[in-house]
Amino acid sequence: MTGRPTLAVVGATGAVGTVMLQILSQHADIWGEIRLIASPRSAGRKLTVRGEEVEVVALSEEAFDGVDIAMFDVPDEVSAQWAPVAAAKGAVVVDNSAAFRMDPDVPLVVPEVNPHAARVRPRGIIANPNCTTLSMIVAVGALHAEFGLRELVVSSYQAVSGAGRAGIDTLRQQLKLVAGTELGTSPGDVRRAVGDATGPFPEPVALNVVPWAGSLRDDGWSSEEMKVRDESRKILGLPELKVAATCVRVPVVTTHSLTVHARFEGEVTVDRAREILATAPGVVLFDDPAAGEFPTPADVVGTDPTWVGRVRRALDDPTALELFVCGDNLRKGAALNTAQIAELVAAEFMGA
Ligand SMILES: NC(=O)c1ccc[n+]([C@@H]2O[C@H](COP(=O)([O-])OP(=O)(O)OC[C@H]3O[C@@H](n4cnc5c(N)ncnc54)[C@H](OP(=O)(O)O)[C@@H]3O)[C@@H](O)[C@H]2O)c1
Repeated sequence: MTGRPTLAVVGATGAVGTVMLQILSQHADIWGEIRLIASPRSAGRKLTVRGEEVEVVALSEEAFDGVDIAMFDVPDEVSAQWAPVAAAKGAVVVDNSAAFRMDPDVPLVVPEVNPHAARVRPRGIIANPNCTTLSMIVAVGALHAEFGLRELVVSSYQAVSGAGRAGIDTLRQQLKLVAGTELGTSPGDVRRAVGDATGPFPEPVALNVVPWAGSLRDDGWSSEEMKVRDESRKILGLPELKVAATCVRVPVVTTHSLTVHARFEGEVTVDRAREILATAPGVVLFDDPAAGEFPTPADVVGTDPTWVGRVRRALDDPTALELFVCGDNLRKGAALNTAQIAELVAAEFMGA
């Protein structure tokens, strides 16, 4: 390859794609052409990236002509079909869907944790982890590097944008229906007000929390919970890691939060954990409860790092830490991590 790499953004019109265009406009401009691709529904629409209007083209084999790196921010089945097409045309694919994450020939990469993995990509595809795993793994990976992780018990508080534009639209519509009412005081009153408008969620999400994300897997687990387990193991290179996750949807637009109980090989101290978290790349330690300081989605949204607060040693286990973690699911949880991976590959191409 000579000159600057050509980048394709597939799914440029979606929730993740929209944030991707912002990130590409904010990061150092290392790209030659940036080609925007979506479904035929969006062909001809104009979107702004790097301060310029670019026309969206429909997904097709020809759309990958001359593309060096292709980011895929589309549903699983679209990635499953089209990522191999882009790879066969010579592009390195960075895929945000779940289609290839557990494929042993596809690395699952978080640049702060396992950047080396991006170089070994037998299928020409690199996978981006799911947003819930990504929202905690940079902080957990930093602690693992020092203490040696043995077990994770996590609960998520997931934003509606994790379910794409449809999730955001659903919460906003439901909030209009309940705003200014006395709802939320008797069984089923919110459900009756919301009616069938539950969008991608099984229950009303306004004035509520919903202990479900994804689809049903064996023995009552959800697909989202299985992703947290499987993907944490793969990223950290710990195939035997014990993981128990409970994924919960909350009425937050963007930014996932998690409580994390992390058990390590030996005794840990809060002081050392704080030092690690305060200096780890991509992590901000924001932890002073006496001053009312801990991360919340309302403050974290739109920012890049993984924010960590409420760092405590487990009262009944000197080998375990308790944390509260927040990360913007559309930035580090999706578009930012993809952009970072694409930048790693671009640096490789440009001989850095
Ligand atoms: N939201 C998150 O927090 C998050 C985090 C990590 C990973 N992800 C993953 O990232 C991917 C995109 O998620 P999202 O939340 O951005 O979804 P979304 O808002 O629903 O956007 C979907 C995008 O895919 C495009 N698309 C759909 N069907 C297509 C087709 N047949 N051909 C070409 N393009 C097609 C859409 O184009 P049109 O506008 O033309 O329909 C749109 O650009 C998914 O795999 C998701 O699981 C999402």
